[in-house]
Amino acid sequence: MQVHGNQYRAVWWDDGVVKFIDQRLIPYRFEVAEAHSLEDVVNAIVTMGVRGAPTIGVMAAYGLALAANQRQDLANARRILAQTRPTAVNLQAGLDSAMDDTPTRVLENAKHFDDSTVSAAEEIGENGNRLITPEMKILTHCNTGWLAAQDWGTAAAVIFKAQRAGKRPFIFVSETRPRLQGSRLTAWEMTNERVDHVIIVDSASALLMSRGEVDIVVVGADRIAANGDTANKIGTYAHALAAKAHDVPFYIAAPASTFDSGTPNGAAIEIEDRDANEVLSVEGAGGDDSILTLRIASPESGARNPAFDVTPAELITGIITERGVVRPSIRAIAAHLA
Ligand code: MRU
Repeated sequence: MQVHGNQYRAVWWDDGVVKFIDQRLIPYRFEVAEAHSLEDVVNAIVTMGVRGAPTIGVMAAYGLALAANQRQDLANARRILAQTRPTAVNLQAGLDSAMDDTPTRVLENAKHFDDSTVSAAEEIGENGNRLITPEMKILTHCNTGWLAAQDWGTAAAVIFKAQRAGKRPFIFVSETRPRLQGSRLTAWEMTNERVDHVIIVDSASALLMSRGEVDIVVVGADRIAANGDTANKIGTYAHALAAKAHDVPFYIAAPASTFDSGTPNGAAIEIEDRDANEVLSVEGAGGDDSILTLRIASPESGARNPAFDVTPAELITGIITERGVVRPSIRAIAAHLA
């Protein structure tokens, strides 16, 4: 990703330190933060300084490398990192890839996982771009771009490749309550890539589809079960239901590391429950760009905050991966990944 003329990944290793773009501050400020210890990496993931399934996987792999560098117990470090976010399976994939009986190899493995995450994201973009026709109107949800997948993205990589191919897509960016990854992060990335877009409230998608204003939906994934049921940011399922009702193609874009053959179906996917305060308040910037938290709910009320939902395979037209496009069925997925 290019920011202010410099090339960045969302997370990188720099001489014994893990550096990351602090996603809690975008779009108000662009700052690079540092993790010097396993605890710093855990904190960055839990508080969403680093987020997005593929990027979390890379961050966890580098967290293990930090622990190895500091001669910590790797099995214990792995257990701690694995518990930071339960739904995104890329985190487990990053840890599996980096783990090694020889501690000096952990960093090498983590760097390899990082590079393969970036190249998979670019290939997803290229494969998805084949589905995009000139001036197509695309709806996307949450953040799936540079920040979420290290460099290119997943669903957003499809959009960036189409834009760079001169197809001039138009994007409906759903704001993605409660943390607003759409209006804060995706809209910022679209602006940087000069992609024409508008932000919509999450609940506007069915109306737009009923009016024929959306040609295709492309979203990312945090875990894809063996049968194709897909966990992604809360609100994805509602977009998929609306797409089915209005005959709009609905695609998932995700790397092979997001598939979990050990989870038979969506009902078996653990859904992360996050702090109720994310629903009861909203964060934004004040006039001086300082970040403010405003309470937006009746003071006596509580909230439920499931962070992900599961879209059943029958609502998904296809899954775009670095290997091509696969139908969401047990057989097709197993053959695609073999
Ligand atoms: O809670 P987040 O912001 O980590 O959730 C991210 C998403 O749900 C993305 O859509 C997902 O990771 C898919 S692609 C990067």
